[in-house]
Amino acid sequence: MAMKEVTVTDIVYETPSIVSIYLALPDGTPIGHYVPGAHIDVEGPTAITRQYSLCGRPDGDDAYVVAVKREEASRGGSEALHTLKVGDTLKISEPRNLIGIEEEASHHILIAGGIGITPMHSMARYMDVRGISFELHYFASSEEEAAFLPILREKCPEKLHTHLGISREEQTAVLQEVVKNAPEGSHAYLCGPEGFMEKVTTILSTRFTDEEIHFENFHAAEIDESGNTAFVVELEGEEYDIPADRSIVEVLNENGAEIDTSCEEGICGTCIMSVLQGTPEHRDNVLTKGEREANETMAVCVSRTRDPKLVLDYF
Ligand code: FES
Repeated sequence: MAMKEVTVTDIVYETPSIVSIYLALPDGTPIGHYVPGAHIDVEGPTAITRQYSLCGRPDGDDAYVVAVKREEASRGGSEALHTLKVGDTLKISEPRNLIGIEEEASHHILIAGGIGITPMHSMARYMDVRGISFELHYFASSEEEAAFLPILREKCPEKLHTHLGISREEQTAVLQEVVKNAPEGSHAYLCGPEGFMEKVTTILSTRFTDEEIHFENFHAAEIDESGNTAFVVELEGEEYDIPADRSIVEVLNENGAEIDTSCEEGICGTCIMSVLQGTPEHRDNVLTKGEREANETMAVCVSRTRDPKLVLDYF
């Protein structure tokens, strides 16, 4: 994935643990628009690459904004980004979309848990100025830890529903009510911590189809690799042996396939390939349930196969 250099032009503490980092091109030319809900790869000072949602105004073109929460269990990514100063440089990818506003929907229900507000913030701001029907449910541990709350209260107070510091049982009751009251033709969008996402998805599934639920999940799935076996992948007529301890993308790229990768954890969608034959064993956290069941695509950085052979093509 091609990365470009950007300069940190501003740093704003949204909460004690969440910082917004403004990123602009070094020569000051416009950095460009993006589709609300998009994310970028950010290579930080420790050369660790992570995915962050763009959370500024999508129609502003002077800087991209990412909000980074300092994670207790950080492997160096978020911690290092919290040490940045104005004038520092980083590398970023072009924006990509795993979650986007569904044009066919008559109403949009945005559900954010904690730092999951980042894509929802840009989507809400975009829909608000265009008069698109939406509601935003924002779950956070406290007012102090709820990033972008002041601006959301100012810009779209009647669309914003805050659920601060409530118990898990109360969360469930709120979500059930949201589902019950959802107008016909609604689509739902969610982003947040893994357990929260699972809970929301389960509740949404009682009313919404897979196609009506859109999510962004930057958490790698827990993978048990002890049962891995070797298999064969065919690409453009050539066959490649994939050993039990190597990934498909490792072997293909070693042989000159030039498949783009980024996270290599099954969460960014960069390495998705088409499946022409065979049944993948999906191990990613990026494809939807429907896409997994269709078995027409797979994330080749982590997923493997249920058959002895897969025939793949570039996506
Ligand atoms: S490289 Fe990110 S999903 Fe495969």
